[in-house]
Amino acid sequence: MATLKEVLEIAERTNTAIPGFNIDNIEIPEAIMEAAEVENCPVILTIGQGAINAGGLRHLPDVVRRIAESSSVPVVMHLDHSESYEQVIACLRAGFTSVMYDGSHYPFEENVRESQAVVRAAHAVGVSVECELGAISGVEDGISHSNTNLVDLDEVKRFIAVVDSDALAVGIGNAHGIYKGTPNLDFGRLEACRKLGAPPLVLHGGSGIPEEMIKKAISLGIRKINVATEVRLAFMEGLKSAVGSRDIYKMYQAAKAGTIELARTKIRMFQNKE
Ligand code: 13P
Repeated sequence: MATLKEVLEIAERTNTAIPGFNIDNIEIPEAIMEAAEVENCPVILTIGQGAINAGGLRHLPDVVRRIAESSSVPVVMHLDHSESYEQVIACLRAGFTSVMYDGSHYPFEENVRESQAVVRAAHAVGVSVECELGAISGVEDGISHSNTNLVDLDEVKRFIAVVDSDALAVGIGNAHGIYKGTPNLDFGRLEACRKLGAPPLVLHGGSGIPEEMIKKAISLGIRKINVATEVRLAFMEGLKSAVGSRDIYKMYQAAKAGTIELARTKIRMFQNKE
């Protein structure tokens, strides 16, 4: 297994982005790993709040560890959108190699304080940390933020001066879930974040962002792109397509095939492959 910091260094060197795919069961990470190995690309297997609420913290870390053991590419086990220091500590104990602390909906000073505490604890055991500025809207695993999501550049400057995070998620008009129409991303703001010397930048809400926007975002410093909704849809469409067989293994097979195809498409897009 690799840390987020390690795979982001690869992304920085190659001017690409590493996919962060949310996982909710055993079959999804199996499918994603198949895609990552065929494409020979590091991958971030992300456990989010929805999966944790459904009991995922009991089993999913073991699933990821087992999968990573036999993988030919680096695998990061990442916690998504944690709003709790205590949950972060539980994940450090469960073997995560990366955690996201999302204090973006708290007042700025509180976000700074809590992020610093998380960074201190995680770095003490060699685990990477992603933080967030400019709350990303939409519904992510039951968390809904209604604030406007354009990151404040002055806050970026003040935040990165005092928080040693390994990655920074920024709101630039992106949102979780399916976009209504074409997303309107503020690329000027993204470029400005990078010029301020921000750590590798993360684009949440990767589902449904058109390819040319993804490529532009990567060229301006996005190094990790999160995809959850499209993974779940691909998996569920596969299940549905084979439901008539009344054979659970055929349903899983179809679901995994659809998930592999989706993951390969995203990986190739993020790796700038034709
Ligand atoms: P989507 O569900 O829009 O792909 O967003 C995923 C995400 O950002 C997870 O943090």
